[in-house]
Amino acid sequence: ATVAIVGCPFSGGQGKAGVDLAPNALVSAGLIDQLFNLGWEVHYESELHFSEIPYNPAPPHVLGAAIHEQVEVNVPVNSSPQAKKATMIQKLPDPDIGKMKKPRLVSAVCEKVSKEVGEIAGKGWLPLTLGGDHSLAMGTVSGTKSKYPDACLIWIDAHADINTPETTDSGNLHGCPVSFLLGLTGTAVEPFSTWLKPCLKPSELVYIGLRDIDAPERAILRENGIKAFSMHEVDKYGIGKVVEMALDHVNPKRDKPVHLSFDVDALDPDVAPSTGTPVRGGLTFREGHYITEAIAETGLLVSLDIMEVNPSLLDSSAVSQTIAVGCSLTRAALGETLL
Ligand code: ARG
Ligand code: MN
Ligand code: MN
Ligand code: MN
Repeated sequence: ATVAIVGCPFSGGQGKAGVDLAPNALVSAGLIDQLFNLGWEVHYESELHFSEIPYNPAPPHVLGAAIHEQVEVNVPVNSSPQAKKATMIQKLPDPDIGKMKKPRLVSAVCEKVSKEVGEIAGKGWLPLTLGGDHSLAMGTVSGTKSKYPDACLIWIDAHADINTPETTDSGNLHGCPVSFLLGLTGTAVEPFSTWLKPCLKPSELVYIGLRDIDAPERAILRENGIKAFSMHEVDKYGIGKVVEMALDHVNPKRDKPVHLSFDVDALDPDVAPSTGTPVRGGLTFREGHYITEAIAETGLLVSLDIMEVNPSLLDSSAVSQTIAVGCSLTRAALGETLL
């Protein structure tokens, strides 16, 4: 079987620099060899180059207001020329639309990712997307759905990432991808609506690991009948039962393709410290790996995201620990077993 790595050096869906360094960091840590040793044919040429995306700039009449909204981006000291270039693009004019931050950039990047993931899946290969921030899932999930319309989505996260452009408090689009995929009220807005059509039903989605949900998100989950296993349910039932119940909900006959989107902040900050929005009380190392192992065991995984590793946060031991966890979660999802 073949896996194709989609490296997405992108941080524009949230406010902290450095999450764009993760794809290179994960690959440099040996991920390609590790997957090869599991028996995969691994395709990887380079990261995607988002700096070359000629996204439509804002119309001239809003640019005056925009200049002071452009936050100076910290280029991490040891970043590659490529990463520096990727960071530069955020200085192109991209003023807020409503509350949304960097909407044109996020949209253009996700459109490119969607095409890439769709093409890889179209060849019958498994796309492994290395983020980057979780706004990228607008691209990865829509790309997966273009090849597998009946795919279900298993979202592992401390957060529900289901804010809409109207409900978001932060304006960060990494808190919103799921609402766009579902086509919730308020998401049919430019520039996203030019390419991103609703492609996911509420019944096709399940969450595990939630523990930091905004009030409007809680209402959205309830109103749409979306199944979610928070850390409370993980404590109550144990991770084995939770994964079984999650699969029973989205995939009762175990016959549908699975897209797994794994935000490393689902793990406890003691396990994956270097991430932009850590929340205490998360999954243990084994709980996280149990999820990926159990999904691998179904034989139904068709697309995988590893998101929100930020190699510029905390000290070098925290960073290498988080990168190592990103690699081991990926190996487990792609079939590594303990015995
Ligand atoms: N709910 C918060 C927001 O909308 C936090 C989202 C964090 N998302 C993530 N992918 N880490 O801003
Ligand atoms: Mn999260
Ligand atoms: Mn919050
Ligand atoms: Mn997330």
